[in-house]
Amino acid sequence: MSMDDLKRQAAARAVELVEGGMKLGLGTGSTAKHFVELLGERVSGGLKVIGVPTSEATRADAERCGVPLTTLDDIDRLDLTVDGADEIDPDLNLIKGGGGALLREKIVAAASDRMVVIADESKLVETLGRFPLPIEVIPFGLGATRRAIEKAFTENGVSGQMDIRKGRDGHAFVTDGGHWIIDARLGRIVDTPRLALSLSSIPGVVEHGLFVGLASMAVLAGANGIRTIERPSRRN
Ligand code: A5P
Repeated sequence: MSMDDLKRQAAARAVELVEGGMKLGLGTGSTAKHFVELLGERVSGGLKVIGVPTSEATRADAERCGVPLTTLDDIDRLDLTVDGADEIDPDLNLIKGGGGALLREKIVAAASDRMVVIADESKLVETLGRFPLPIEVIPFGLGATRRAIEKAFTENGVSGQMDIRKGRDGHAFVTDGGHWIIDARLGRIVDTPRLALSLSSIPGVVEHGLFVGLASMAVLAGANGIRTIERPSRRN
């Protein structure tokens, strides 16, 4: 079974959690795209839901699949967000942002009563950090922001190369919000909640890809089937 088959299986299991009338956060990435497509099939079968996309790419996918959309200006809370992840630890802390949509993904996840992460099981790791940590930054004053990030890393017992993410044209990748992304190769993050707080306090950092206490369940698809990991309470 291919990796893409596993992603679709995880997405299919998450679609079963959707009930009529739900307000949904729609994640970004190849796994979340499967979810949007499968949700679209249920919508064409008569299911009534409304979604908030976490990127322009997901907005286009949802429109193509016939999923009605709204915004967080027009509705208050979301019932459920379904999104992928780049790494998932056993406490359901996540690294996200490999697709560059971490800012909207985090806003949407935080506005949701429940966040379910869908992935193939290779995303489950003992400790976060092998996947480069995306940090969304303002281009202005980037040198100062980088130095502040380095200081935060040192204070949190991690270090590693930082690269400005490049787009296909070789220039800096620009997020949907008009910002840049630094990918930090940390290897092993010792204390994820503490590092998340430190990065959040840096003025030039718009957001970072550590999702702490947001996911309530992970649906992981592997060669031996699907398993779920639940957190007893939503936030630490
Ligand atoms: C998008 O910004 C990311 O957070 C994605 O959710 C993450 O990169 C997972 O993507 P895949 O489902 O494509 O692996």
